[in-house]
Amino acid sequence: MRALVDLPISLCRESEVPLIVQLAARLREAMLSGALSAGERLPSSRGLAVQLGVSRTVVTEAYQQLYAEGWLEGRHGSGTFVASLETPPAAPAAPEPSAPKMARRERPGDEVINLTPGHPWVRDYDVAAWRRAWRKAADLPPGDYPDPYGLPRLRELLAGHLRRTRAVAVGPENILVTRGTGNGLDLCAQALLGPGTRAGVEDPGYQVARTVFAARGAEVLPCPVDEDGVIVDGLPDGLRVLYTTPAHQYPLGGRLPIPRRERLLSWARRTGATVVEDDYDAEFRYDVAPLPALYGLDPSRVVLLGTLSKSLAPDVGVGWLVGTPELLDRIAAIRRAVSDRTSGPVQQAVVNLLEQGDLDRHLRRMRLEYARRRAVVVEVLGAVCRLRGDTAGLHVLAELPPGLAPRIMERARERGVLLDTAERHHHGPERVHGLVIGYGSASLAQVRRGCRILAEMIKEG
Ligand SMILES: Cc1ncc(COP(=O)(O)O)c(C=O)c1O
Repeated sequence: MRALVDLPISLCRESEVPLIVQLAARLREAMLSGALSAGERLPSSRGLAVQLGVSRTVVTEAYQQLYAEGWLEGRHGSGTFVASLETPPAAPAAPEPSAPKMARRERPGDEVINLTPGHPWVRDYDVAAWRRAWRKAADLPPGDYPDPYGLPRLRELLAGHLRRTRAVAVGPENILVTRGTGNGLDLCAQALLGPGTRAGVEDPGYQVARTVFAARGAEVLPCPVDEDGVIVDGLPDGLRVLYTTPAHQYPLGGRLPIPRRERLLSWARRTGATVVEDDYDAEFRYDVAPLPALYGLDPSRVVLLGTLSKSLAPDVGVGWLVGTPELLDRIAAIRRAVSDRTSGPVQQAVVNLLEQGDLDRHLRRMRLEYARRRAVVVEVLGAVCRLRGDTAGLHVLAELPPGLAPRIMERARERGVLLDTAERHHHGPERVHGLVIGYGSASLAQVRRGCRILAEMIKEG
């Protein structure tokens, strides 16, 4: 085994960049430059830790990061090797364009801590399982236009997944495979809305729902929410569709209690409205078991939208729409008419992940990981302000006096910490003030550092 003494690995203890991040970066550079070549064995974590004078955790975490990114591979019982890749993996994920503007980087090497909500941890997927799923998908030749309802095998597997995880009695005939929630919302809007119709969206709520419904010509009306979720008695008249997030209100984080669910469905039956249930992060609860999906209480009045964007990764582009076979037929006809589809090979890869149990395994691991990150947010920020939201999902709302959150968002950006405010999620007058902090796409150490910076700012006021 080679010692890395002849490689230019030097770590700077004075830097604000954590040692793990520095070491991973130096190893990436060595692999890119060819100083470490494919198939070469890396020193043991203990050996390298001694050589560099750092704790073993620094080395194991840097290795894990590089495994997750696909730079390294393990051979059972025989160590860690540089993966043989024709194209090197991308550098670690940068914040996505939907995130607030990138911070100005003052010194090279400064890290950006992305605490914007809506982004999962995509760097820790089991690379071997991922490759296996895609290799198997590639065994099938390319095909003609895919079935507008989705691959039959995937619909079957998703029905099983929903029965297990969301306690709803569905069969494949109730499921249509989408490209994610945005696509599902648009298909609902095309089937149910149009000029002269009214759609209600929770306020504060998910901006994408407002935009998609408005783009299809509907008049979009704000529907107030409280700690528990949407306020049924406050719903405007004449709604044809109501968009809601009963499992984990976005962004306040409440869970709609059973009596309110019953009232909501009586309202839908009385008015003839369809409730669109966005079940975007229901796989992630860290205290009690999730309540069954609202859909199960009245499948004739609810359309359930699910997505792999949180449970796997947004760039996979797969979700599902659960509804009556009649609604699905209408939507399939619309898809044919406008040539809308979900990629066949992508669906096949998801079939493989589900069949092998890889998604379930990933979810189990990520639940632990997110629960740890959430505990850090609660520990650091809970000491300086009131936190809102159930012990679930990938974000927390830190309530602040009016006016403070937008100022902190700007100041935090200057220090490389990106986040969002509750103010930005309102449609009507702003009623809730504070920071919306996502802990999905930053590491545990980054979540801690980012929250400490925010806690200082909150204390300064
Ligand atoms: C409320 C809500 N719904 C759905 C999604 C996911 O949407 P999609 O499946 O289109 O990626 C998100 C992602 O941030 C979200 O915040």
